[in-house]
This record gives sequence, C-alpha cells and structure tokens, in this order.
Amino acid sequence: MLIAILLSGEHPSLPYSEVNAILKGEEISFSEVNRFDQLMIIDGGKEVFDVLKRRGAYIVEGGRLITHIPNISDLINQCDKIDWSFIEGKSFGVRVKRVKNYWKEFSSVEIEKKLGGIIKRHTNSKVNLENPEIWIRGIITNGGIFIYECNFRISKKEFIERRPRKRVFFHPGALDAKLSRVFVNLCRIKRGEKFLDPFCGTGGFLIEAELMGLDAYGLDIDLEMVKGAYKNLKYYGLEANLILADARKLPINKVDGISTDPPYGRGTSTKGRSVKEIISNFLEEVKEVLRKNRFMCIASPQEVKIEEEAIKKGYKVHEVHIMKVHKSLTRSIIVVENL
Ligand SMILES: C[S@@+](CC[C@H](N)C(=O)[O-])C[C@H]1O[C@@H](n2cnc3c(N)ncnc32)[C@H](O)[C@@H]1O
Repeated sequence: MLIAILLSGEHPSLPYSEVNAILKGEEISFSEVNRFDQLMIIDGGKEVFDVLKRRGAYIVEGGRLITHIPNISDLINQCDKIDWSFIEGKSFGVRVKRVKNYWKEFSSVEIEKKLGGIIKRHTNSKVNLENPEIWIRGIITNGGIFIYECNFRISKKEFIERRPRKRVFFHPGALDAKLSRVFVNLCRIKRGEKFLDPFCGTGGFLIEAELMGLDAYGLDIDLEMVKGAYKNLKYYGLEANLILADARKLPINKVDGISTDPPYGRGTSTKGRSVKEIISNFLEEVKEVLRKNRFMCIASPQEVKIEEEAIKKGYKVHEVHIMKVHKSLTRSIIVVENL
C-alpha cells in the first residue's frame, strides 16, 4: 500500500533520511515513491506504522494514502469517486494542514468542511472532532493535497520532557532529545543490536538508544561526563554500559552501529588536541570496531571537512547534511559505511 508520512520542518533533509534509516535498520521491506515538502510517500506494509511510531523523532505522523489531488479544482470530483466504506459505522474527523504557504489562497477550514461533507454523504458516519475512531488528514504541500488515514502519530511531549535542561546532569554541549534520536536512527541499527557513542558526554544519545531497545555502550574521556551520563540514564530508569576511555583507543569489541557528536573545540573539552586530529585518529581506530558494511553517523564543524577525512580512511560516505547552529557554527552531519 502507499503510505504518506508527514515530516517535521526542523531540517530540510534529515527527516527523509531518518525514515529511510529506521526502516532499513529494522529490515522492513519498503520502497520510496516520492518526496514533497515535509511529506514522503513510500510503498510498504502495516508494520511501517509501528516501527516509525516507536522510533521516529523528525516524523510527525502518517498512514495509508487515500488519494493525491494535484489540482484543487478536482477535489470534489476525485473525493466523490473514493470508496469511503471503511469509515461506515465509525466516527471520523477531518483535519487539513498546510505546509508553509502552499495553496494559501484556499482556506484549509473550507477544504475540511467539503471533505467532511463528502465522507458524511457517502457513509452517514458521525463526525467527532475530539476523539474520532478514524482521523482523515489532508496535507497541502508542493505536489497538491494528499489525503490519508492517520494510522500513527508521534507524541512530542516526551521529547520535551527529556530536554537537556531537565536532566539531573546538564552540560551545554548536549543536543536536544529529538536531534539525538535522529543521530541514533541514522546509523541504521535494529532493536537488540549493539550501539556505541564514543563521545557520549551527558548521555543524550544513549538515553534515546536505550529507549528504542538498543544495547547501548557509551564512553567519554572525562570522568565527570561518565558519572553524569550514568545519573541521567538512571533518572529515566535506564542503564547503559559506560566506560571511561579515549575514543582514539577503543576498549570495546565489534558494534553494529555508531552515532556520535565529537567535541567541536569550543565549549567542550578536547584535552589540548585539535578537533581534526581527534576525528582523524578516531576514524582510523573505529574501522576495527564497527562491523563491516555497518553505519556510523558523525558530526563536526563544517570547516573540518569530515567527509573528506572519512573517504581518506576508506569509508563510503552515504549522506552529508548541513545544519546551521549559529552565526559562527555550521555542523556537517555525515553517514558513512565501514567498507
Ligand atoms: C559534544 S560533547 C557530546 C555531547 C553528547 N552528545 C551529549 O548528549 O551530551 C563531546 C564529548 O566528547 C568528550 N571527549 C573529548 N575528547 C574525547 C576523547 N578523545 N575520547 C572520548 N571522549 C572525548 C568530551 O568530554 C565531551 O563530553
């Protein structure tokens, strides 16, 4: 079946990659059909809903695509031809959301009313806008309007509850919970597999990894960080394997995936070494620790040109995402495969 996935607008490329990485990591069969602004269409089975709901961060919601209408003038005609019988005997609600300013000359409330009217006429089902049995969603984006049955939705509340400032041990180098989870997902790892963050800091990536059922290992060169990460994990009732060590000499056996945010040579400790040197030594060391043909997601300031370092060390670079943090810091986030 075709599945529409509504994505967060927090970054232009990471959300699409997160969907791909989660499904590939969990070995769910699917194929990508098309990409629109904040909306992705894939072909896959029902199991996609559960996996994306359990793991997604830059994913808002999704479900079975009912129809795609490229021209608003065809809305009524096209919706009249749809078999709405799956709603019969159930309550339903319709919500239409506009991405950015697409079709801004048309009111989304008007479209909701029209669509609701058509469904009611076809099914005689009750409208319930509080808690219906079936939510029908319309998304207006660059390709037109996409109408789907909302089969899963990801709660953002939990990410807010896990924000770095809320943790018992705080350090300004920590990324927010959503982005930490995206990093973990990008290394294409499956539930139960062995995950490593070799620059774990306050443990933000380890928390997300453990919550997704991964077997998480974290190490940091700074004892305060290792102790702090332990406290943070404990606060959420979690436990990871924490090691006080230098990431350039990894005291660990083979792992299935790595996601990490090494120091930037700014606020965080580099123990007197340049960021480029640490990353270069680390990339060399990790070749023996990350299993062959498995993935690592790693970030660095753009000027470090981490993708070039990775190629030099014999990795295959699959993705490069650019993220502007503030005026003087732009981060490159890359996904590499260990060949
Ligand atoms: C940007 S922070 C990581 C933030 C982390 N993602 C979090 O959620 O808190 C980088 C971390 O790398 C650690 N570090 C610096 N050099 C290291 C090395 N050679 N080996 C291991 N850890 C190191 C620092 O102590 C710092 O905690």
